[in-house]
Amino acid sequence: MSDAQSIRPFLTALEKDGALVRVAKSVEREFELSAFLSAADAGPALIFDSVVGSPLRVAGNLLNSRARIAAALDIDIGEIVPRIHQAIRAPVKPVKVASGRVQEVVTLDDPLAGLPVPRFFERESRPYITAGVILARDPVTGRGNASFARFAILDGRTAMVGIAPNHHLALFSRRAAEAGRTLEIAVVIGAHPAIQLAACLYLGVGDDELDCAGSLLGRPVDVVPAKTVELMVPADAELILEGRIDARQPIEEGLVSEYHGMYEQYGPGFLATFSALTRRGDAIYQAIEPGYHREHVYLGALPIAASLLSAISAVVPNVRDVAVTEAGAGRTDIVVQIADIRPGQARRAMFAAFAAVSLVKRVTVVDADIDPWDAVAVDWARVNRMRLERDLLLVPQAGTDRSEPMEDGGLVTKAGFDATAKPADRVEGVERALPPAAFRDAARRWFTENLPVEQRLWLR
Ligand SMILES: Cc1cc2nc3c(=O)[nH]c(=O)nc-3n(C[C@H](O)[C@H](O)[C@H](O)COP(=O)(O)O)c2cc1C
Repeated sequence: MSDAQSIRPFLTALEKDGALVRVAKSVEREFELSAFLSAADAGPALIFDSVVGSPLRVAGNLLNSRARIAAALDIDIGEIVPRIHQAIRAPVKPVKVASGRVQEVVTLDDPLAGLPVPRFFERESRPYITAGVILARDPVTGRGNASFARFAILDGRTAMVGIAPNHHLALFSRRAAEAGRTLEIAVVIGAHPAIQLAACLYLGVGDDELDCAGSLLGRPVDVVPAKTVELMVPADAELILEGRIDARQPIEEGLVSEYHGMYEQYGPGFLATFSALTRRGDAIYQAIEPGYHREHVYLGALPIAASLLSAISAVVPNVRDVAVTEAGAGRTDIVVQIADIRPGQARRAMFAAFAAVSLVKRVTVVDADIDPWDAVAVDWARVNRMRLERDLLLVPQAGTDRSEPMEDGGLVTKAGFDATAKPADRVEGVERALPPAAFRDAARRWFTENLPVEQRLWLR
């Protein structure tokens, strides 16, 4: 048994770098914990040592920037998307191990009781588990899936699970219900960041995200059999809730926050009934501040970027990078960087992105000299490299998710901005006025060698 596949080494590294703050005061589950996470949204990771009504500590704000996600994967920021993209292409199956620390304590009665589940926002009616990676198997094919979805706590054993109808977990739940059955699930909390990132990938139905997590980790995910359901679960996580989803039993949710920062009224979710809680003896419960908060935004953004890179590179092989912007809450607004673009490729990339992830509603295509993650640089390209009457594409009546804030009957107008340079547009050409490349490279090298990564995020 080791901690290598847990969140513990990352927490230790954050603490060593001064990027983790311990909240020593006792905090309430109702709104207080959420207020701390919200206030520190762009700041340090937080550990709450004492939460009223629970013996467990809580961690939050762990993966709230690209720099944090890079640190968690132990790579440079620019490598995140290529690395996740590589994991999609070369998945690694989990391996069964003899035992796991996640099963040190097993609770069969009222598994949800005593968990430090926060109530987040004023107009939501219940506390929510927000950092649960849900493992399940397709009732038809038996193939696995891992994804996040929220649980609103009803009592010590039951919760409402809110899943977008097009997500694979919703599909599996409906398939089980059609066969007159419930769907077995394991909700993994406090898994290694690689597992959390993989859970946000948009893959084909039956492509198991846990296999991509193995590739991201650089070794298979260690798994052990769950205690009360027939699923294999990550051995090193903090805690796991085992249970079943019954899609035949609708539970009204009320208002719920969405990634865009506003409330939604989705109507009923499904009933989830829990049969066991297994956990480490000193388990740390992870809480992700939902809505338009950075951890929620970036955890979604990077895997979506890699999923889109995968889809676009199938039709535009010279695509270099895909960014999913913070303004679009890591979901709806993307920037595609294409090197040596040829006529027609910008629109091809736009349509590939719209088709691959239905949430995407604005695509901007830029050249290789524009950093797609730099919002000002991208806007510069939109301002200076577009003739709107020629380079703006509007796609009315395009299908989108129910979470899109401007959707009407499941439809929204999507937009593509071809912000690549068309050299024929300017007699002077489009070359940027800059110091010679050799001098710029030398200056960059100096900063890279003399400043730690967190202090040179501005470096161009
Ligand atoms: C912190 C977090 C919370 C999320 N909560 C939900 C949720 O409550 N319901 C939902 O349908 N998707 C939620 N998502 C998004 C899905 O997990 C994500 O779209 C995933 O890729 C869907 O999996 P699938 O492609 O296997 O269907 C959440 C994502 C994150 C990062």
